[in-house]
Amino acid sequence: MDAVQENLGLLAEETLDPLDWADVQALSHRVIDDAVDYLRDVRDRPVWREMPADVRGAFSAPLPRSPAPLDAVYSEVSRTVMSYPMGNIHPRFWSWYMGSSNFTGALGDFLAAIQGSNLGGGNHAAGLMDSQVVNWCKEMLGFPASAGGTLVSGGSMANIIGLTVARNVKAGIDVREHGVAAIEEPLRFYGSEQIHSCHRKAMEALGLGNRALRRIPTDAGLRIDIAALRAAITDDRAAGFKPACVIGTAGTGNTR
Ligand SMILES: Cc1ncc(COP(=O)(O)O)c(C=O)c1O
Repeated sequence: MDAVQENLGLLAEETLDPLDWADVQALSHRVIDDAVDYLRDVRDRPVWREMPADVRGAFSAPLPRSPAPLDAVYSEVSRTVMSYPMGNIHPRFWSWYMGSSNFTGALGDFLAAIQGSNLGGGNHAAGLMDSQVVNWCKEMLGFPASAGGTLVSGGSMANIIGLTVARNVKAGIDVREHGVAAIEEPLRFYGSEQIHSCHRKAMEALGLGNRALRRIPTDAGLRIDIAALRAAITDDRAAGFKPACVIGTAGTGNTR
């Protein structure tokens, strides 16, 4: 609080801003430099290494009760988190199919966080960019301009939204208003034995239950057996179920 404010009896503004922007700027430059080195030199590091006990112990440290300077926090994150990655950005990581991040994407994430964009609505550029990306995706996939879309966090969310649309369209009632208990003809969904487990989770979360999702056998090439799919749909219709959706799988869930 400066003397003038004190004389006027004004309180200093409370803020979460840094006390010294120059310090934050210098640290930010260091973070970016380190990040570039981290990616550029990934081949010089092992894919994975065992975490020493003292580093592991840092993750059970008690809740901090007082603030810490940002550069101390960054040093700690470098020492404990950045030094012991899963390894999926390494060119010799073959343990699983994880994506391997992307530097320009990371810069985009950074700017989105800086802007604090909220895409729930409003008249602003980030919202327009979101729509533009959806429109470009529609164009790439050959969808009509009238198609709708939304950007989500990943495969599980994309599938649950797609399956929700199928459920709501085929339910024969307004599910959003009346709930799944009011669906008269139980819905059935179909996918090959190679579909990802997120579809099962979606069935559970959508209130349809795992049994509403029929796994159809695959052929020697792990493609869905179309004759078996037709037979399952016919049987289900005869038993009073309503087919709602066939889940397509490009590739397979178990081979990449
Ligand atoms: C074929 C397939 N579908 C869905 C998912 C789930 O995606 P996410 O982890 O982005 O939710 C995965 C994840 O690996 C997947 O491989």
